[in-house]
Amino acid sequence: MAGTRSRERKVEPPLERLEAMRGEACLGGGKRRIELQHAKGKLTARERIASLLDTGTFHELDAFVTHRATEFGLEERRTLGDSVVTGWGEVEGRLVYIFAQDFTVLGGSVGEVHGQKVCKVLDLALENGAPVIGINDSGGARIQEGVTSLNAYGEIFYRNTMASGVIPQLSIIAGPCAGGAVYSPALMDFVFMVEDTGYMFITGPDVIRSVTKEEASAAELGGADVHSRKSGVTHFACQGEEETFGLVRRLLSFLPSNNAEDPPYLTPLDPSDRVDPVLDTLVPHDPSEPYDMLEIVERIVDAEVFLQVQERFAPNLLVGFARMGGHVVGIVAQQPPVLAGVLDIDAADKGARFIRFCDCFNIPLVTLVDTPGFLPGVEQEHGGIIRHGAKMIYAYAEASVPKISIVTRKAYGGAYIVMSSKALRGDVCYAYPGAEIAVMGPRGAVSVVFRHELEEADDPESVREQLVREYREEFAHPYVAAKRGYLDDVIAPRDTRSRVIRSLEMLQNKRVHRPAKKHGSIPL
Ligand code: HXC
Repeated sequence: MAGTRSRERKVEPPLERLEAMRGEACLGGGKRRIELQHAKGKLTARERIASLLDTGTFHELDAFVTHRATEFGLEERRTLGDSVVTGWGEVEGRLVYIFAQDFTVLGGSVGEVHGQKVCKVLDLALENGAPVIGINDSGGARIQEGVTSLNAYGEIFYRNTMASGVIPQLSIIAGPCAGGAVYSPALMDFVFMVEDTGYMFITGPDVIRSVTKEEASAAELGGADVHSRKSGVTHFACQGEEETFGLVRRLLSFLPSNNAEDPPYLTPLDPSDRVDPVLDTLVPHDPSEPYDMLEIVERIVDAEVFLQVQERFAPNLLVGFARMGGHVVGIVAQQPPVLAGVLDIDAADKGARFIRFCDCFNIPLVTLVDTPGFLPGVEQEHGGIIRHGAKMIYAYAEASVPKISIVTRKAYGGAYIVMSSKALRGDVCYAYPGAEIAVMGPRGAVSVVFRHELEEADDPESVREQLVREYREEFAHPYVAAKRGYLDDVIAPRDTRSRVIRSLEMLQNKRVHRPAKKHGSIPL
């Protein structure tokens, strides 16, 4: 009879038990910690997922997992699901995998099972060819779990690396992300940071103060502003979590689910053959007068929609996604009002990374060129402009996606060759009639070639002016390059949109055969 009683005690209605356990898991670290999270202006992990994904599409995994650690009283602090919420869902009806660190549970710290949960999602995303989104809000490696936590990070980093170039990986920094933990976002393709609440650094303000005596707050050291302007670590800095999730959804609308797919085509409402006469006068004749390249970009793409990537970092180079004739394209363009559109270290890094991303994911490149060359200066030389500039050449030369370029005005020296030139296997290279393609600008060229004549002249300034005029007439136009076939055509600016779209369609089955190799050795 005693046996019967104990059996009776064990029997619990299964559905009620499931419901109770789900309720417990959904509470994460409990009501008090959820209130604390809200008081900091942050959503909880589950609220974030619900806000980011299409309504009702989230399928949670491992909600009942708990950690196995016993060190430092951890056995008393087991929470269903541990400190990360994982699963899959949809964005605009397309499959995505997601994990969101739960700061209410042990500060979102990463221990053994937290790592295992994230790895399960990364493995599923890779095997099933869908993007993965990680929402970071964590105190880093779980101190009590010691080296086990460090290993968990290593397993995540390995998977981030294996998934690179196969599925898009998006990382959102919505709270602390410090120490070696920053390297998972850094290995992913795009980093979004929430202003005021998200921060990233390898060593925090206290350690820096004690080691180098430098004073910086968490925001000054690694907030969204500094990482979007100075370090270039983040691609998007957003006001608040809702804006961040909206931007993540927007970015995903341009990306294929994996590297075997084409990016999503949208039937365009904007006519492909739309002629824009304003473009004929938008680029000033005077090569030193700036104009807004962004306006050209917005005038040639479908419905003026251009999603800039790393907008605040190296603004002398614009990069981002748009559609032309419904096809997704990656735009790379100089911005003449900023440093006259020179190529410098940061612009080269920004451009090279973007080009390689586009190439991984079958996104054709449209390049608009107006650059006087590389930025001169000791700082640039000592900072390794040679090494960094080489990345951009490598990225363009290696990219096997369709590459279309338009020289809108200046294309001087090495920078002309870098920017998707024919020699680097640009497929279709156009120039506007006012373009100048030469080894250097007229003034510089005259100073070098006619140095002796200028030294000996009675009136060097008027001789110089005359020589500059002659040089301009002889070289500073697109027809020398066009005669040699380095340009495929000189086009009227008003026709840019239709010429690019026709070229994209002509190139849509492009195939490139490369020598067999394990991988190249890009100058990193
Ligand atoms: C265990 C942690 C934790 C951690 C926070 N908690 N970080 N528990 N391991 N790394 C716990 C806290 O003890 C606290 O527990 C709860 O989470 C909330 O933390 P608070 O400190 O109260 O929150 P807040 O004031 O907002 O401060 C957040 C914080 C701070 C700035 C992140 O917690 C902090 O400095 N944590 C340590 C950060 C750190 O040094 N991590 C190691 C980085 S190195 P209770 O009991 O109150 O709920 C690293 C190496 C990775 O990550 C290597 C990869 C190769």
